[in-house]
Amino acid sequence: MTAWPHLRGIAYGGDYNPEQWPPETWLEDARLMQEAGVTVVSVGIFSWALLEPEPGRFELDWLAGVMDLLHEHGIAVDLATGTASPPPWLSHQHPELLPVRADGARLWPGGRQAWCPSSPVFRERATSLATTMAERFANHPALVMWHVSNELGGHNAHCYCDVSAASFRGWLQRRYGDLGALNDAWGTAFWSQHYSAWEEILPPRIAPTFPNPTQQLDFARFSSDELLDHFRAERDVLHRLSPGVPVTTNFMVMKHVRDMDYFAWGPEQDLVSNDHYLDASDPRGHVELAFSADLTRGVAGGQPWFLMEHSPSAVNWQPRNLAKAPGQLRRNSLQHVAHGADAVCFFQWRASRAGAEKYHSGLVPHAGTDTKVWREVVELGRTLEAIGEVAGSMSRADVAMLVDWSARWAAELDSHPTVDLAYLDQPHALYGALWDAGIAVDMVHADADLSGYRLVLTPTLYLTTDATAASIASYVEHGGHVLVTYWSGIVDENDHVRLGGYPGAFRELLGVRTEEFFPLRPSERVHLDDGSTADQWTELLRLEGAQAVASYVDGPLVGVPAITRHAFGEGTAWYVATRLDADATSRLMSRLATEAGVAPVVKTVPGVEVTRRHGAAASYLFVLNHTDGVVHVPAEGVDLVTGAGVRGKITLEAGDIAVIREGGG
Ligand code: GLA
Repeated sequence: MTAWPHLRGIAYGGDYNPEQWPPETWLEDARLMQEAGVTVVSVGIFSWALLEPEPGRFELDWLAGVMDLLHEHGIAVDLATGTASPPPWLSHQHPELLPVRADGARLWPGGRQAWCPSSPVFRERATSLATTMAERFANHPALVMWHVSNELGGHNAHCYCDVSAASFRGWLQRRYGDLGALNDAWGTAFWSQHYSAWEEILPPRIAPTFPNPTQQLDFARFSSDELLDHFRAERDVLHRLSPGVPVTTNFMVMKHVRDMDYFAWGPEQDLVSNDHYLDASDPRGHVELAFSADLTRGVAGGQPWFLMEHSPSAVNWQPRNLAKAPGQLRRNSLQHVAHGADAVCFFQWRASRAGAEKYHSGLVPHAGTDTKVWREVVELGRTLEAIGEVAGSMSRADVAMLVDWSARWAAELDSHPTVDLAYLDQPHALYGALWDAGIAVDMVHADADLSGYRLVLTPTLYLTTDATAASIASYVEHGGHVLVTYWSGIVDENDHVRLGGYPGAFRELLGVRTEEFFPLRPSERVHLDDGSTADQWTELLRLEGAQAVASYVDGPLVGVPAITRHAFGEGTAWYVATRLDADATSRLMSRLATEAGVAPVVKTVPGVEVTRRHGAAASYLFVLNHTDGVVHVPAEGVDLVTGAGVRGKITLEAGDIAVIREGGG
């Protein structure tokens, strides 16, 4: 990551869709943006049909007018290439670029993002629009960054059409070289699946029963690469025609999105940007927000990142779209900044009056500016202005959590020992326990350099390469502490089981050997001799050098160890072979933290989140009170939000936040 747009302080704004409004509204918009302290808006994301109403005929003057107006009001523009959603004429002329599902059904236009990632026609038309946009606007004074497409892969990550099939075969040829290597990797000796010619290979379309798992895994890898390739094609146009202006595409690092390998995408961005939406049904949504923000920071290589979208209040696409409570808009926003965001942007500026998203909140609500949302929008603008000096500061943590998208895809394939194995379950459980304890975490790729960390968490790393296993073992050998959870180290990069007992990649490191998995029935719960309970998963495990920390007292495996600890080299390797309840997970994490010498950022009460960002001249303490009561948190310095000095402690009302420039005196 090399570039940050020319924007002062913490950038503030959102998606702006002026084409949904008459020009008289544009002037009001610009004035209101000024009133709110907005510094940047994303324009043109869904404008293709109006920018190019007929093939090759462009109408860009209206957009130029909008950009001029914004510039006159001091608002910068993150300009979209406009390619997110093709216009009706394109699929009308080229129905072959509409995406095809695994069951062979072709999807229709009428929503958005109805395009096949492998379509050469789409690629040609999209890069042509990107070229026209760059030629017209590269030197516009409002332009500070480019926004390629929108949430690539949000609705069209996988296409199973014949064009995609041919592209998949090309990808496989590059990966395997010859068919023999592919047959080995896919284990095609099984069920008479041996391929004799490349033309026989298809995407994993719906078959009478389970398709080949490695074929599915490779198709997931291919699909992420294919969209990344599309991003690169548009980005390269912009780099050529608009040099020096940073390019990004907005990621979806969120619990329910799993199709893009963002560790591969991150380094291709000039700056990483992300969209995050709270799951309104999750009472611990703020912990999921922190997880997602930290993972985005990891994907950004630790650099500041750009929050491109979140919602001012309700969204429109969940079963029940809960409005945000008073104060939540600001608290959610500041929480992203606390975890490394240097921009706070929203979907969208003005709530639509028509279309599928008309009940999605906007910074300017349907009810206008005499509203809770608008008052909070103005207040947030003031807060972000006041804390502007934190921009550019960075976080560091003593704990690393390893994340890997191939492991996620492979872990969640079909025909596994139980349907209950969900990749994110244990990462969230461990992260949640650390969040409760106030301990900061870096989310890093499984192959990251671990040498600077006191504690490394390896949850559900089902697919583990030899290189990853060696890196973790060497980290422990040199004095590191590692925790591995069940359903890790089971298969290699081809989804082939590592033989000799589970978890093959980590047996020696952990000093254990599992003979057989014993998944549990849906409502079954087992007890451990340290008082913990567990569900979903147990293993017939034998100690081969490790000590038992806790064993089952009931269930199918009475007396068998469930938690183990192994001295390995100068370090320690822990294994958790079952799904512990939340209290037991917290107890385990606090024991591990103590042993590894990891401390909370600041010792405080449950529900109060404290993070620290380090700048060149000062460090900044973010304090977020997620509780319903008044809290007191030890701190020293100046609260940038209120300007007040903080001596010894800060007192925060329920739901309030503070950002303290640290230092005595
Ligand atoms: C995504 C999209 C936006 C909008 C919002 C609604 O993040 O990028 O265009 O649809 O969701 O929440």
